[in-house]
Amino acid sequence: PVQTYDLFAPTTEAERHARYARMRAEPGLCRIAPFGAYAAARYDDVRTLQKDAQRFSSEALATTAEPPWLGPNPVARSLVTRDPPRHTQLRALLSRAFGPTGMARLEAQVRHEAQTLAEAAVHQREVDLVDAFSFVLPRNIIGRMLGLEPSTFTGFKRWSVNMGLITSALPAQHQDIRDTVKEMEDYLGDVIAARRRQPGEDMVSDLLRAEVEGQRLTDAEVLSFLFLLLPAGMETTAQLIGNAAILLARFPEHLEQARADRAHIPRFLEEVLRYEPPAQFAFRVATSDVELSGTPIPAGSLVMGLVGSANRDERVFEQPDAFLPGRDKASQHLSFGHGIHFCLGAQLARLEARLALEALVPRIRALRLRSQDIEWLPGLTIHGPRTLPVELIPA
Ligand code: HEM
Repeated sequence: PVQTYDLFAPTTEAERHARYARMRAEPGLCRIAPFGAYAAARYDDVRTLQKDAQRFSSEALATTAEPPWLGPNPVARSLVTRDPPRHTQLRALLSRAFGPTGMARLEAQVRHEAQTLAEAAVHQREVDLVDAFSFVLPRNIIGRMLGLEPSTFTGFKRWSVNMGLITSALPAQHQDIRDTVKEMEDYLGDVIAARRRQPGEDMVSDLLRAEVEGQRLTDAEVLSFLFLLLPAGMETTAQLIGNAAILLARFPEHLEQARADRAHIPRFLEEVLRYEPPAQFAFRVATSDVELSGTPIPAGSLVMGLVGSANRDERVFEQPDAFLPGRDKASQHLSFGHGIHFCLGAQLARLEARLALEALVPRIRALRLRSQDIEWLPGLTIHGPRTLPVELIPA
């Protein structure tokens, strides 16, 4: 019999990982209360879900972005909810803008932004690190990358929160989410029209110029991509930087090591990604009757890949619950996905997080959490601190 687990009941972090461990020990897949999705908790099963687009569709998930109370939502037609062959074509057109050239163009900007924010945060000494640093850095970077007007950046937080709520929204939240989709459509539509008239050195212009084998992106395709990119570029990277700060506070020896040798920073961050993945799970839909780890899954079933569990699978990682930067197989975590949907922004996210710590670490002697109880974001999808009151002790 397939065991059912309630993943959404509030728990402590330790209980959540104990539950994942029990799920990994089950003979096959589990099911999730209250909505009955199948759930894969073991590393191999999660990786299969992420990479086997033939048996496990992303495109079939598009409808979840357009519930009846919402109506058309451009993000439903974005890259992440497409299957091959359309996914392959779109990805080829979009990935140009994320290549090494694009990243090199950004590096100086990210470093400058990180230095400015770190300087101001350390000067204040007691700050909410989310407000002062970990959220505003990726927000400002994605905003500049797309060539958006800095005075409009303050509205992006609400948009990204609302876009993240769609699948679990309460009726009282529906109107604000409908407004958000409309506002984003108007705002991003204007940006696209302006870049069509007058292209520049920004990513929207790059996307409009992109051409592969005689194919180009339509304005609607660029709009869908921007709907995906704006929240994706802010929320997850903010959580990576926030989680890194928490772990620097909890393991001050790594702050010491990073201060002595900044080559320690990328090693440290890779382990933060494994240990506290910002995106805790990904969904797929079975395209036919399939089997995973011996569990039969009927066609059309929703299947959930628990990345937060896969990254702690004892079959792959020794002492999985220990935080050990530089460990064996460190980079085999599934936090950026795997296969054709592997995160397009992974290079950018690593660059931002590295430059964030390179800016912060040399300026501080210690990072103290002002409360040992972290206020985590609600829900399970995105894992990271909602607020992070800290004291930064200047070097
Ligand atoms: C896809 C995680 C940062 C853009 C994904 C996927 C994951 C992920 C797990 C795969 C989803 C799936 O398989 O269904 C993360 C994490 C980040 C991060 C943990 C930060 C630490 C970014 C950034 C951007 C970005 C900064 C862009 C600026 C995308 C896009 C896709 C994607 C466009 C879709 C790729 C495709 O479907 O082919 N991300 N992401 N991500 N990510 Fe990220």
